[in-house]
Amino acid sequence: MYDTRISRRAALLGAGAVAAWVSNPARAMLQAAAQLPVPAFVDGLVAKMTLAEKAGQLTLMPAAWSGGTATALNPATQGSSFDTQLDEVRQGSITGVFNGNGAEMARRMQTAAMTQSRLKIPLLFAADVIHGHRTIFPVPVGEAASFEPDLAERTARMASYEAAAAGIDWTFAPMVDIARDQRWGRTMEGAGEDVLLGNLIAEARVRGFQGKDLKANDAMLACAKHFAAYGAAEAGLDYSTVDVSERTLREVYLPPFKAALDAGVLSFMASFNEISGVPSTGNEWLMRKLLRDEWGFEGFVVSDYTGDMEMIDHGFAQDLREAAKLAFLAGVDMSMTSGFYRQHLPELVEAGEVPVARVDELVRKVLAMKARLGLFEDPFRRIDAKREKTRSRTKAATALSREAGRKSIVLLKNQGDLLPLPKSGKKIAIIGPFAAGQHDLNGPWVVYGDQANATDLASGVRAAVADKASVTVTPGSGVEEPLAGGIEAAVAAAQAADVVLLAIGESETMSGEAQSRAEIVMPAPQQALAEAVAATGKPIVVVLKNGRALALQGAVANAPAILVTWFLGTETGNAIADVLFGAYSPSARLPCSFPRSPGQQPYYYAHKQTGRPNPSDDKLEPYKAHYRGIPNKALYPFGHGLTYGVIEYTDLQAAPKLAWDGDLSVSVRVSNRGKRAAEEVVQLYIRDRVASVTRPVRELKAFRKLALAPGQSETVTFKLRRDLLLFIGRDDKPTVEPGTFDLWVAPSAEAEGVHTTFELVR
Ligand code: NOJ
Repeated sequence: MYDTRISRRAALLGAGAVAAWVSNPARAMLQAAAQLPVPAFVDGLVAKMTLAEKAGQLTLMPAAWSGGTATALNPATQGSSFDTQLDEVRQGSITGVFNGNGAEMARRMQTAAMTQSRLKIPLLFAADVIHGHRTIFPVPVGEAASFEPDLAERTARMASYEAAAAGIDWTFAPMVDIARDQRWGRTMEGAGEDVLLGNLIAEARVRGFQGKDLKANDAMLACAKHFAAYGAAEAGLDYSTVDVSERTLREVYLPPFKAALDAGVLSFMASFNEISGVPSTGNEWLMRKLLRDEWGFEGFVVSDYTGDMEMIDHGFAQDLREAAKLAFLAGVDMSMTSGFYRQHLPELVEAGEVPVARVDELVRKVLAMKARLGLFEDPFRRIDAKREKTRSRTKAATALSREAGRKSIVLLKNQGDLLPLPKSGKKIAIIGPFAAGQHDLNGPWVVYGDQANATDLASGVRAAVADKASVTVTPGSGVEEPLAGGIEAAVAAAQAADVVLLAIGESETMSGEAQSRAEIVMPAPQQALAEAVAATGKPIVVVLKNGRALALQGAVANAPAILVTWFLGTETGNAIADVLFGAYSPSARLPCSFPRSPGQQPYYYAHKQTGRPNPSDDKLEPYKAHYRGIPNKALYPFGHGLTYGVIEYTDLQAAPKLAWDGDLSVSVRVSNRGKRAAEEVVQLYIRDRVASVTRPVRELKAFRKLALAPGQSETVTFKLRRDLLLFIGRDDKPTVEPGTFDLWVAPSAEAEGVHTTFELVR
């Protein structure tokens, strides 16, 4: 039914990950940054504007007429009514609104701007279209698990197709923050812990949202957020302090932003956090020196929500006026939500504290962007109530959601080949709070999708099996609260069945913004449910719902089969059923490591070795770098994921030397020795053994996803060049040093796969 072939483009992207390497800091220097031409009429327009109108162009507000979810997600600090907002439009004191209510709202506002405002500057409509608009795709971290940038591009494209038809010009996505501490709730919104994967997904999503032509009525301006290092919050606590070296910034947290910029992103969002004492919103080094001067970014930067105001609570700005001034002078071009720019900029200019030339420069940029989006030519190009309906939840979008869903599912474990399940002849008990019901399907950060349109697990399973009556559903527990009599009912259901699907994990309110968790474990009532069901001795398939990596313990960790299903969106139940019953052989890989214990956070595979590594995983030695009783390893590391095939890596071929200006061809034979078709993500890791700055124990440098029929073998070839071995040196600049490198081609970041070494020689 579905085309499971990997598109040629995806294969090339994977294979080309070496050649097209984007984590390379030197590449960052070479690429042309996203350009924003300023049409000639813009200067004439700026010359006609009052200071208040200029400040208005730099002011974005939450839509007063929004929807239920939008309002809940963005409680408007100004408490504006729609009529008041229309007045602001007429006065020219607003550049646009975000998270509004579709084409009809946009039409009314744009009509007011175009007919009743003095200068008739079109409004800009923004929204958080994070993983789909009305058709919902997997949460971004799940989609990243596909290791298919091409898929991320296609879902972003489809999201734009739907959302742009509802009047949306600008999405606050992609979030490209690297997440190395799984307590951080926003892990769900990014591509996980790895820089290379993060870069490739960032680029892909920018291309998808923006399309080939930003003027098209199915294209939206993308926004790389949150600049910068938002994911590096201390102890994984959202909004908390970030204190990282410039080297780590440049090596880990900044590359996905640069990759997004190289892919043409024309807006950035400042992050809420401080970096080493300076809030990003007031960080001139970050916003001007790095982003504009060094990277050549020509688009604009928006604050994150009330980020300017929050500098007061950071203890960085004295009062509202100073907050506005600091943000503006630092290089935050547009203020979201607080209204600070329109309140304070005119006065700051008149007092000589902000040069008017700077205001003009930013207004030019915002107007140039509106021109780039085609809004001066046709302010209504994305506003069409009819198109909004016809493009909403099309068959193609639903099919893509199912494809993305099944490609996001990671099979962690499959003892005794419990999976795939036969479609007939087995009584199936689906147990757990996520067994059935129109909840927790879309996942966090959905403004416009409706759970009622999504398929739950029970419906997906029933649609796949021969006899619907063979399936029972028992909740067994609430998500964080026990259910009276739940465990008894669940045990009875398990006893009456041949196999249990244990649908447990996190609700969608447990990850996302502000949803950091101190302990990334299964909530206690669900753990108790799992223990009780496991005690029946029935085979259990854990169907995990999660927005982050979890520390799996007890009966959950010991279940014979575990599927990580994240939040898959519209086609949740069907996508999971595709994998459960073998219509699709799981092909996703973990984009974030599942630790052995919650206390290991932050745990990521590319950690340093330390001066006291434990020599072997089998025996923990005293006075070595590990917690009591736990190896310093993941339970399931980054890159891990099984298929229904049996994959073997052999015949690694690589010359022992890489010449300074040469390349090194690395080839490996990958075979499917199993009886079922499989897709394998072949991963190439290196380790720089000795350098002037210590290097991680492994770094992903390339991967390739390939489809293998039963019995099929393929030789995968990667090309290594010197620039792949660059790192940020002691002077915080990219460098590369000759010496010995380990090289693995392996099925995960901590699997041995096949290994060799080579020398980089000058
Ligand atoms: C705050 C979030 O951090 C950001 O990602 C989002 O785009 C804005 N709110 C607007 O909703």
